[in-house]
Amino acid sequence: SGTLGTAAADSGRYFGTAVAAGRLGDSTYSTILDREFNMITPENEMKWDTTEPSRGNFNFGPADQIVNHAAAHGQRMRGHTLVWHSQLPGWVSSITDPNTLRSVMDNHITTEMNHYKGRIYAWDVVNEAFADGTGRHRGDVFQNVLGNGYIEEAFRTARAADPSAKLCYNDYNIENWSDAKTQGVYNMVRDFKSRGVPIDCVGFQSHFGTGGPPASFQTTLANFAALGVDVQITELDIAQASPTNYANTVRACMNVARCTGITVWGIRDSDSWRSQDSPLLFDAYGNKKPAYDAVLTALGGG
Ligand code: G3I
Repeated sequence: SGTLGTAAADSGRYFGTAVAAGRLGDSTYSTILDREFNMITPENEMKWDTTEPSRGNFNFGPADQIVNHAAAHGQRMRGHTLVWHSQLPGWVSSITDPNTLRSVMDNHITTEMNHYKGRIYAWDVVNEAFADGTGRHRGDVFQNVLGNGYIEEAFRTARAADPSAKLCYNDYNIENWSDAKTQGVYNMVRDFKSRGVPIDCVGFQSHFGTGGPPASFQTTLANFAALGVDVQITELDIAQASPTNYANTVRACMNVARCTGITVWGIRDSDSWRSQDSPLLFDAYGNKKPAYDAVLTALGGG
């Protein structure tokens, strides 16, 4: 019988997971990883607090472990993430001079993307830049010091650094079409496409509660895709992992031609950032849960 990765590949898609470098030595974990998944997102290792803990001092050791594992096992990589208000070192969040912050941001993007040049399928260039419940940017250091143009600046810098990588905007709570935050991100992508600002994809994190995906999820994916970008489900987990909720989520992607792949945010429930919700496809022992079979079937495999 098939695996998540091979079933997704049959329709030209990928099936990925978040990976923590510290778990690669756990053979239960790595056996499932290498059997089922053909795309990897580092869960924390490519974030700013790890990769540039002090100005100009870069540390790619933990992320290299994951990228090397992926190369050895034929898996592709999503880079996560270059510009984000969280897991941002204090030396960055305390910058108040625009010229300094612009050069620090551009240098961070350029140096990290150069290190992995040619080895990353897609980068989450900017993560979670919109405020909850609004169509406006979050008031983080980048917005407050650089103003509205910082997202565009980040994408232009990223394109110059590695023209072979797809450049994504990634966020949560943008899955329901009528939400103000969804509309804000949609308007940004439409504006970028109309002005030639380089953007190739939008990632929908899809951290769902027990209600599963919103009824409009497929509409949202289709509407963004119609702007001329790929769409991807980038951090999927669903409280209590109901098979129906997982199947509906996968079907929403399968029904949109430009939905190019799905990534779950961890392998076993015990690996999850929200482990108390048992939100993933494998239990703590590495056994497949009912949601696994529902996903495999929805991908057209099984
Ligand atoms: O590595 C340190 C360890 O040295 C220290 O002793 C320990 C004490 O707190 O913390 C460890 O770091 C933790 C890190 O995960 C690695 O385990 C951080 O505290 C913890 O905050 C961090 O959580 C991560 C979270 O992002 C941070 O915002 C989660 O693992 C990770 O799953 C989560 O992922 C995010 C995506 O990047 C963006 N979208 C939302 C998603 C879920 O929050």
